[in-house]
Amino acid sequence: MATHTLFPTTIYTARLQGTNWRPLNRRLLTECLQLREDDEAGRRWSKKNYPGGYTSYNSVARMYEVSPTFAALKKKLDRHVRSYVNSLELDMSGRELAITDCWVNVMPAMVVHSWHLHPLSTISGTYYVQTPRGSSGIKFEDPRLDRFMAAPPRKANSKIANKPWIIVPAEAGNVVLFESWLRHEVPPNASKGERVSISFNYSWF
Ligand SMILES: [Fe+2]
Repeated sequence: MATHTLFPTTIYTARLQGTNWRPLNRRLLTECLQLREDDEAGRRWSKKNYPGGYTSYNSVARMYEVSPTFAALKKKLDRHVRSYVNSLELDMSGRELAITDCWVNVMPAMVVHSWHLHPLSTISGTYYVQTPRGSSGIKFEDPRLDRFMAAPPRKANSKIANKPWIIVPAEAGNVVLFESWLRHEVPPNASKGERVSISFNYSWF
């Protein structure tokens, strides 16, 4: 007798780099907060679409083209994305997988980013710049949820692979990658200080 685990949903987590990530994070944090100061269009857009927080999603989405700090981050992310794609065994021959955009998110206490996915992209992810104690993680749900209908619930103490949703903690210096079709959210942020992250998309051209 054998049971087989098929059709996996794979999430990648890693430290951005082994050591010495703090100086890069300090520079990133300075630039993220400066961007919030400078980006009036983004603040306006956030007021309507990201209540209580700031995101440059709709205004400044290619900082790696103008900031050496963000360019350094992108270079490191490229390596992680390559590892992830290898582990997924995606056949990406013939076309290039490349970053298309990245954006800054600043979440004060109780700001939420509700369920969504990243259409038209291949691999998406987040890098955590500042995560005060109590910062919300990123929550992923089983992509088959709508097919479960009358299926019994899973045991409360089931292993992670069997849970209908999981939360990957947000920790400064960590990168989280997922396939762009996977639905996710950031639940209400419970930290007192501001949770700062940089999200990004890679597309297969
Ligand atoms: Fe997202």
